[in-house]
Amino acid sequence: MVKVAPSILSADFCNLEADIRRVSSADWLHVDVMDGMFVPNITIGAPVVRSIRKHTDMFLDVHLMIDKPARYIDDFCKAGADLLSVHLEADHPTRIADALRAMEANGVKKAVALRPITSAKAILPYIEGLDMVLVMTVEPGFGGQKFMESQLDTIREVRAIIDKYNPGCELEVDGGVGPANAKAVIDAGATVLVAGSAVYGADDPAAAIEALRQARSVS
Ligand code: DX5
Ligand code: ZN
Repeated sequence: MVKVAPSILSADFCNLEADIRRVSSADWLHVDVMDGMFVPNITIGAPVVRSIRKHTDMFLDVHLMIDKPARYIDDFCKAGADLLSVHLEADHPTRIADALRAMEANGVKKAVALRPITSAKAILPYIEGLDMVLVMTVEPGFGGQKFMESQLDTIREVRAIIDKYNPGCELEVDGGVGPANAKAVIDAGATVLVAGSAVYGADDPAAAIEALRQARSVS
């Protein structure tokens, strides 16, 4: 069954503990880290991840939208992340490889993320060592944007590469995912759905999470 990872970007940061509890039936918790350089927005850093870790046992899926992420891998691992995603566009390939090695050394799961402009083939040099590939279906930076239908092709291409080289690798889709497109995203090959507004904007977040999980069977 597909995993659902609510994004706390849509939570109330003044009531974060309560807002994390509201989504505790989810599989993972998605934490969006933005530096104001790689993306225009600034959110949170390792100290907040450390605080979150103290208040929940949920699997922390930390999406690093930061330039030159190799600089901060140890910090986020020590803060308690379970998985880190680094963007392939955020540094030279040798430094991306360094970042992945640092995750391995810390015993944290390793993922690479693709902006919509980046082709699926860009994952080829890394695929055999990865635990997850994250495909963006909006331009990273903000929650609540419209899902880019054209990215379904990228999801299918990434699925084919995963099936060929590393079938156990998760495929996470992030941006504008909700009840209207969850089935298409799963059918294209996703195994993890990130949802910010679709979960936190719902009257009943637990029901919204379950509806996304069951999307394949309802429509
Ligand atoms: C966007 C973030 C997403 C975002 C998803 O840059 O990476 O995780 O929070 O939010 P929705 O589901 O509202 O598009
Ligand atoms: Zn994200």
